[in-house]
Amino acid sequence: DKGGWESYMDKEIHEDPASVSDTLLGRYDDKGHLDLDEVHIDADVFRQIDKIIVVACGTASYAGLVAKYAIEHWVRIPVEVELAHEFRYRDPILTSRTLVVAISQSGETMDTLMALRHAREQGSRVLAICNTQGSTIPRESDAVLYTHAGPEVAVASTKAFLAQIVAAYLLGLYLAQVKGTMYRDEIHQTIDSLKAMPSKIQWVLDTQSEKVQETAARMIDARSFLFLGRHVGYPVAMEGALKLKEIAYTFTEGFAAGELKHGPIALVEPGEPVVVIVPSPRGRDVLHSKVISAIEEVKARGAFTIAVAEEGDEDAGRYADVVFRRPQCPTLMSPLVDVVPLQLFALDMAQLKGLDVDKPRNLAKSVTVE
Ligand code: F6R
Repeated sequence: DKGGWESYMDKEIHEDPASVSDTLLGRYDDKGHLDLDEVHIDADVFRQIDKIIVVACGTASYAGLVAKYAIEHWVRIPVEVELAHEFRYRDPILTSRTLVVAISQSGETMDTLMALRHAREQGSRVLAICNTQGSTIPRESDAVLYTHAGPEVAVASTKAFLAQIVAAYLLGLYLAQVKGTMYRDEIHQTIDSLKAMPSKIQWVLDTQSEKVQETAARMIDARSFLFLGRHVGYPVAMEGALKLKEIAYTFTEGFAAGELKHGPIALVEPGEPVVVIVPSPRGRDVLHSKVISAIEEVKARGAFTIAVAEEGDEDAGRYADVVFRRPQCPTLMSPLVDVVPLQLFALDMAQLKGLDVDKPRNLAKSVTVE
């Protein structure tokens, strides 16, 4: 049931705010103390964990990459993110103190399942972050933290991506709590920041959709798109690129903004659309000014630049041709809002091209073969 929406993808993007709030629900008390008893791994075991390896594919792997920035910062243990199909065949270093986190919306992705089986054979614990109750991946894991995005029908993953980030963040905060790497207050504040995100996502849906649609209409003949970002904006750029290629069949590439001068800038010719995720101008100023200079560099070569930037960021307004705005939020929270206009952009492009947005060619909702 599409509930009045033209497509499942449209409906599911509009469920982004609920996906975040439902995944947070019931997992902390009013003092900001996290309660992940549902996970059934002893706090002592969590205390011993000295490395995390996230295994996942596609969109789920980008959620893992976002979480890497947060968990390493909060817990001070290394977090590796590996495509499940690569992990399995490279003899990864796994010990009983390694926590392998398998992220999967469907819970049936064969590549991810094979990776977690391998990790368990080597004696590591596996925690699944999954959206589908009773599916194979959580059944075969030591523990599961469910995302509560609700059923996702459209082949392109949207609301599940946000829920995966939230669940991985909850895991990171829980680890920080048991290991004592963050003050209680800091954990409390971070949970408050997470709780504030659904209304910020709603703001993007309410105020930016029209601009996104107009921009898609202007870009309808573009043959390729580049997406770039830094820090947590980097996985968001890759996710935006993946959405557009899978449902609008446009050639896209997402990459780290710092790589531009190491190769990709050669692709920029007059009219080339470049989407740039701009970090907040507050706080990490260095990153902000570096990303702004990336916009200047591609613009100087004639690119058509679309920025995703914070409200009030005048540099983005000055240098980019179009700016999709996000409300102010801490850097680590920004992926939850920045991905939303990119999801809408892919949807609009595909619709304007008359494509079946829910069932793109050659793709299946869950990939149950290796
Ligand atoms: C992209 C997409 C895929 C999946 C990937 C993993 O929109 O849907 O990249 O994210 O196939 O699927 P799950 O999360 O079900 O393991």
